Amino acid sequence: MHGWYQVAFERDVMAELTPARIGGRSIVLVRADGALRAFDAVCPHRGAHLAYGGRLADGAIVCPFHGYAIRLGSDRLGSLCVPEYAVLTVAGMVFVRRSAAHDNGWAAYVTALARDHHVVNGFEMSVRAPMQTVIENAFDQRHFHAVHGVRTDDFSVHAHEHGALVVESTFHVPSGDPRGGAEAFVSAAYRAFVVSPGLVSVELRGATPYTVITGATETAPGECVVRLTLAFPRAGSPSPPPARLYEPLLAHSRRGLDEDRIIWEHLSTPSAPRWMPADEPSLAFFAFCDAHRDD
Ligand code: FES
Ligand SMILES: [Fe+2]
Repeated sequence: MHGWYQVAFERDVMAELTPARIGGRSIVLVRADGALRAFDAVCPHRGAHLAYGGRLADGAIVCPFHGYAIRLGSDRLGSLCVPEYAVLTVAGMVFVRRSAAHDNGWAAYVTALARDHHVVNGFEMSVRAPMQTVIENAFDQRHFHAVHGVRTDDFSVHAHEHGALVVESTFHVPSGDPRGGAEAFVSAAYRAFVVSPGLVSVELRGATPYTVITGATETAPGECVVRLTLAFPRAGSPSPPPARLYEPLLAHSRRGLDEDRIIWEHLSTPSAPRWMPADEPSLAFFAFCDAHRDD
């Protein structure tokens, strides 16, 4: 699949060489001179994974299997080398782009987000489901009430000018305030900005406005790692958010993912699903995924 994928939190990439994975693609993250770069990890000689036992020497990786120096990113004729991938390290998140195409506005979006927000890197969770199943959640109107107890207005989907897919609605969340009675709700504007089959930024504009970045990156067929990050607008709040603000939101996000995970990990996708009108936003997402296929 083309597009940007989150392969790690930066806090977990402190070694000189770190293995990463996007679907069937093995990647080695290289930390040198304070910068992070990403390369194909498969040695062109006979296929050893360069991140497991390799070492950096003179700007090349010495392969752990037969000791050849594997050059980084060059394609000079006759030399053993591995191609480079674009990397974006922003606000503690490490993203790798699978190909030159399909930036979809992500580099500009996440750079602006990091400038205007306090960012809190949350947690990782392994899920036995395809990454598209995780990201499709942002489009799946009916599940919000059935699974999470959150009522929503109708979803509207449109293509963003730079290639992302945007879905918008309003959420009505039970306020949890007993004085309000059983029917008390707080409303929040909902906007999801989807930039790849594995990456979405959800902006919630309620009493406490915040943004949730969810990366779901395929690690093996039918399996992915979900990474979740929160961002709070700097406007009106010069200091980073206190733990008492973000910890309940992280716990809430984890609970929500756990509620979804039970469903995701036991899904049997029928060969001919009986699509309903409310599934239209999900179908738009599947068409978006098809356009990012590279096989
Ligand atoms: S497999 Fe890398 S040097 Fe042989
Ligand atoms: Fe969900």
